[in-house]
Amino acid sequence: MNESRRRALQWITAAATVRLSNQSTAQSSVLAPTPRDTEGPFYPVDWTGEVDGDLISVGGKHYSQGTSLLLLGRVLGVNGLPIVGARVEIWQVDATGRYRHPNDDGERPLKRGFQGFGRVLTDPQGAYRFRTIKPIAYQSRPAHIHFRVAAKGYKELTTQMYFAGENKEGSSWGGFSKERDRLTVTTTPIRDEASAEAKLTATFDIVLATV
Ligand SMILES: [Fe+2]
Repeated sequence: MNESRRRALQWITAAATVRLSNQSTAQSSVLAPTPRDTEGPFYPVDWTGEVDGDLISVGGKHYSQGTSLLLLGRVLGVNGLPIVGARVEIWQVDATGRYRHPNDDGERPLKRGFQGFGRVLTDPQGAYRFRTIKPIAYQSRPAHIHFRVAAKGYKELTTQMYFAGENKEGSSWGGFSKERDRLTVTTTPIRDEASAEAKLTATFDIVLATV
C-alpha cells in the first residue's frame, strides 16, 4: 500500500470512528422521566364532543376571556427520541377559575365558551400543540395545567405544569410533586397580534419512562 492510500484509509477510519461515537452518544443519552404530580379531582368525565387541541374555540366561537396561550412541546422517551402518536390530554380552569367537571362548575364553563380540556396525538416529530388560556390561581393553588400522557410501550404519566414566578403552593399540604421546578415553564409574549393567535407561548417537553 502506498503512503497516500494508507493515509486516505486512516482518514476514513477516523471519520467513521467519530460518526460511531456521535451515534452512540445520541443513543445513550438518558433523560430523566418527567415527574408525576397529583391528578386532582377534576379529570374530565365525558370525552365526547369537541375535545380537540383548541380549547378557546368551541362550536366555531372564540373564547375571549383570559390570556390566550399557545402551549407547545414534544413527548420523548428517556433515550431522547420522539414518541410518535402519544396521546396528550390537558384539563384546566377557565378565566373564572372553574373546571368543566360535574363536581366543580359542571358544563357551565362550556356554556361560557371555554372547552376546559383537550386531547391530541403527537406528530411524527413527537410534537403536540394546544391553544388555550393561561389558567388563573384558585383557592390555595397556583396556576397550573393538568396533563395525562399515554403511549404504547411507556408508563402513563399524570402530572401538572406550572408557571415561572408563580409556582409556589399556597398551602402546606405535601401531596404535590417536590420536583416543582422541573414542571415549571416560562411564558414568552407573542408579538404578532395581527394573526389573532395566542398572546403567550410556552414549551413543555415531556419524557415518558419505558414500561
Ligand atoms: Fe387543578
